[in-house]
Amino acid sequence: MHSTPHFLIKNPEQSTTKPHPMLNDYYALDSQRQSTINQLFDQVAPDYHWISQALSFGSGNWHRTNTLRQSGFSQGMNVLDVACGPGTVARCAQDLVKPEGYVVGHDPSRGMLQEAKKNGLRRLSQGLAEHLPFQDSIFDRVTMGYALRHVSDLQHTFTEYFRVLKPGGRVLILEISRPRSLVQMRLAKFFLKTIIPRIARYKTRNQEALTIMEYFWDTIEHCVSPEIILTTLKRSGFSQVNVAEFCGGLIKDYHATKL
Ligand SMILES: C[S@@+](CC[C@H](N)C(=O)[O-])C[C@H]1O[C@@H](n2cnc3c(N)ncnc32)[C@H](O)[C@@H]1O
Repeated sequence: MHSTPHFLIKNPEQSTTKPHPMLNDYYALDSQRQSTINQLFDQVAPDYHWISQALSFGSGNWHRTNTLRQSGFSQGMNVLDVACGPGTVARCAQDLVKPEGYVVGHDPSRGMLQEAKKNGLRRLSQGLAEHLPFQDSIFDRVTMGYALRHVSDLQHTFTEYFRVLKPGGRVLILEISRPRSLVQMRLAKFFLKTIIPRIARYKTRNQEALTIMEYFWDTIEHCVSPEIILTTLKRSGFSQVNVAEFCGGLIKDYHATKL
């Protein structure tokens, strides 16, 4: 049983579900958080593919495609990929829903959207997960790959996902999170916060690659528990809410349905 971390509560009447507390090493005020991470993502966008492959030891695209396939993606579906980055999940989805279906990639980072365009994504939209510029009930699937830790509020985000999904539609959230065992946790921290960021900086010659990977680890380490994510999905209206774990809990895929 997990107790509620202090930063989840604004006051007894009004609860907020931030994915993690403020990280003062990267921004001094909460109001600077989104602009700081947008800037970081803009700067690493051309090197993000390499970083993402390194983070997942080369298995990233395989896991993304496999998970989409298992969660019932099929031809003709309309998909919204939130936090699309350079289109990593969106391109896997596009292959499964074409030719009649379509995928919209949505992301706040201009640099990432430019990369997504180069990577063949035709429908793109700039903005945050918390405020989706789409009509109600138009998508069969909403996906989000490795970005839930970057939103300002889980409840706002999930309420928006619920709103834009058609009845029967499903949300799929892929995440990296703290492994369950202490040994695996220490190993993951050593590789993901110390070794891989330095290799990434050397390979990409991009100083921001080091910063963003350290930031990734800090958001993983301080992220709310999976139980809070599942509870917040239910509170936002979703049913059939569950999580599948891989690699000792390092990778978690959250599934939920709008009935
Ligand atoms: C680690 S990348 C993930 C890219 C891709 N989905 C993948 O599977 O590799 C995180 C993305 O989240 C985006 N992002 C950051 N804050 C966001 C927010 N509040 N709403 C939506 N996307 C956000 C970033 O611009 C970045 O492109």
